[in-house]
Amino acid sequence: MVQHLRRRRLFGWKGTMAAYLWLVLAIVSDVAASLLRPPRQLSPCQMVQNDVYCNDLNLRTVPAKLPPGIQKLDLSRNLLQNITQEVLAIYTTVHHLNLHSNKIQFIQPGLFKDMTNLQVLDLSSNYLDVFAVSKTSIGPLTAVERLDLSGNGLYTGMTDFFLSEAPALMNLSLNGNSITKVGKETFCGALALRNIDLHNNVILEIEDGAFDSLLHLSELDLSINSITCITDFNLSKLKVLNLSKNSMECFQTTDSDLEYELLYLDLRENNIHYFPVLPRRNKLMYLDLSRNHLMSVNTTGTADELEHFRDTFVPHTQSGGMSRHQDFSRLKYLNMSYNQIKSIPISYFCSMVSLVHLNVSNNCIGAFSIDQESPLNSLKTLDLSYNALQNLSFGENTLRSLQELFLQGNFLTIMDSGTFQRLPSIRGLHLQQNYLKVCPSQRKSPQTDHNSQDPPGCVSFTSIPSLHLLYLSGNNLEVLPPYAFNGTPLRLLDLSLNPGLDIHQNAFSSLETSLTNLSLRENHIPELNTDLSLLSSLKFVDLSTNKLTTLPLWNKASSIESLNLQNNNLVTLEYNTVLVLERTLKTLYMGSNPLSCCSNPRFLNMLQHSDVVIPDFAIVTCQYTENSEPVEVNVGSVTQEQCQKLDSKSVSIIVIVVTALVLIAVLVVLSKVCHPKRRKLNISFRA
Ligand SMILES: *[C@@H]1O[C@H](CO)[C@@H](O)[C@H](O)[C@H]1NC(C)=O
Ligand SMILES: *[C@@H]1O[C@H](CO)[C@@H](O)[C@H](O)[C@H]1NC(C)=O
Ligand SMILES: *[C@@H]1O[C@H](CO)[C@@H](O)[C@H](O)[C@H]1NC(C)=O
Ligand SMILES: *[C@@H]1O[C@H](CO)[C@@H](O)[C@H](O)[C@H]1NC(C)=O
Repeated sequence: MVQHLRRRRLFGWKGTMAAYLWLVLAIVSDVAASLLRPPRQLSPCQMVQNDVYCNDLNLRTVPAKLPPGIQKLDLSRNLLQNITQEVLAIYTTVHHLNLHSNKIQFIQPGLFKDMTNLQVLDLSSNYLDVFAVSKTSIGPLTAVERLDLSGNGLYTGMTDFFLSEAPALMNLSLNGNSITKVGKETFCGALALRNIDLHNNVILEIEDGAFDSLLHLSELDLSINSITCITDFNLSKLKVLNLSKNSMECFQTTDSDLEYELLYLDLRENNIHYFPVLPRRNKLMYLDLSRNHLMSVNTTGTADELEHFRDTFVPHTQSGGMSRHQDFSRLKYLNMSYNQIKSIPISYFCSMVSLVHLNVSNNCIGAFSIDQESPLNSLKTLDLSYNALQNLSFGENTLRSLQELFLQGNFLTIMDSGTFQRLPSIRGLHLQQNYLKVCPSQRKSPQTDHNSQDPPGCVSFTSIPSLHLLYLSGNNLEVLPPYAFNGTPLRLLDLSLNPGLDIHQNAFSSLETSLTNLSLRENHIPELNTDLSLLSSLKFVDLSTNKLTTLPLWNKASSIESLNLQNNNLVTLEYNTVLVLERTLKTLYMGSNPLSCCSNPRFLNMLQHSDVVIPDFAIVTCQYTENSEPVEVNVGSVTQEQCQKLDSKSVSIIVIVVTALVLIAVLVVLSKVCHPKRRKLNISFRA
């Protein structure tokens, strides 16, 4: 707009006239064109092939004159209240009818009877509870396969008026209603159901046999309800069962030799105390028990625990309860994080030959070991973080596929030597927040077996050819010995939060070509004594929160893209270092340093004008003294002229000082020369 106006003004009066002329012509031609075009549809709806979109139009009635042959009719987000035969039933070709988010409180009974093509019916977010109060049934849903009744304020018993004659119904959504009980008869009129979504209701009770007649039921979502216990799970055809976010205290399958189809069982965020009793013959692939109250992996408690929970838990009489380990030969994913498990016996993993992902983080496990008896050789991810681990051991030929091992937040100090060397696929080791020490390399005597050579009390990280990521932050590391990672081609090394860490100048030797990511944050390092410029692949370097006063001279080619120097004691960067860095650097953090910006114009220029992004620019300040007062200004407001002025100021100070000195000297000389005079003067003064 603004640009248009400006341009018009530039053209002057003649230009304005021309523009008006053009505008008039354009309007005339537009009107002419619209007159020649066939008459437009009277309805405000959009039509795309056979689909008609009448959504978001504040409609109070269904448009009456839509073209024939409609397949999909979208009337969502309007103000429809009464759905009656006259208007809707004429659209018999409709397959998909979307009435989501209207104010529907009345549907003429029998309306859908003749809509024999209607397969998908979305009635979500309406006021169908008002309709249900009238205790009339909407009549047969002859061909409807998918019905959405979510968000209608329906409570127990009300669903009957919608489901009593739905022979083709496969997918039913009832989520976000107020159902408290699933009755025995609820789904009797919809025997083809495969998929029922009841999440986010207040279900307290499921009557015996409520789902029994649904022979094809394969997915049942009961998450976010108030179910407390399932003691006789018998839906052997079910594939997916979601019971997360209930108040479940127990889950037990009926004792049977039937093979269950169950693949996914989600029990997260409940109050379960004992490992669920799952079908003896199962195909379970996914089991989530995180955020419960499991104290062990037993299916019943020990006598002690039973004593504790007698009041809240109904002990069951399942045969073989105590320490029967169930068969989980298909299980791929098991999450038991955020429980109170103290230990897991090795035998528990015996049958888990397919397990890929095991997560037992945030428990109270003190020791963990894997041996040949249950080698977990399919496991790729093992999360043991935030436990109380002091002992960890992996036998030979176990965990052959393990790629990521999470051990952060434990009490690990010592480990079997060669623990990590025995993991042939390990890529990432997360060891932060432990008490580990790094062993020096044994490279000087390669013929000796390093398994027996590591000095006690440390962990060796040499010779792990698959390891790329190593996190050692917050271990109270004191020294990083020379060649600490010899034969281990690390890409990422995190040594942050080890205050006082003394890094040997050859500590990173052998990482020259592999290391791209290095963090030495918060280590109180006063001076870097290792030559980072030898690490030719290094791209991301974090040196923030240390005590560096200078950066070592960087005069080799560097690949550094991101450099964090925040919160150090840096005054400037060397001219040559700036030259080298500028070639590859994309991001530089420089805040909270006592920078003297004027001492290196090239550096100031990099901060102010180069393509290097300075995300913390707002806190990058320059310090200088003015009138013998320390002054701190943002780097953005420092100009070259100011620097020159500062320079000339200091020059003039020198001039003043020199002049003063000369004057004093002259005075002294003069005073010597005029000595008698001065004495006389003094006398006269005294007098
Ligand atoms: C809808 O129908 C009810 C009775 O069935 C009637 O009371 C009400 O006025 C109707 N509302 C509209 C908007 O037609
Ligand atoms: C029913 O839902 C499932 C998953 O929720 C989906 O894969 C399937 O296509 C749906 N079936 C119909 C008929 O909408
Ligand atoms: C179970 O339901 C919860 C909450 O509705 C959902 O976040 C989760 O993804 C579901 N789990 C599975 C396995 O689908
Ligand atoms: C383990 O589970 C917790 C919570 O369920 C999750 O936050 C964490 O990311 C999981 N660990 C892994 C390695 O996926």
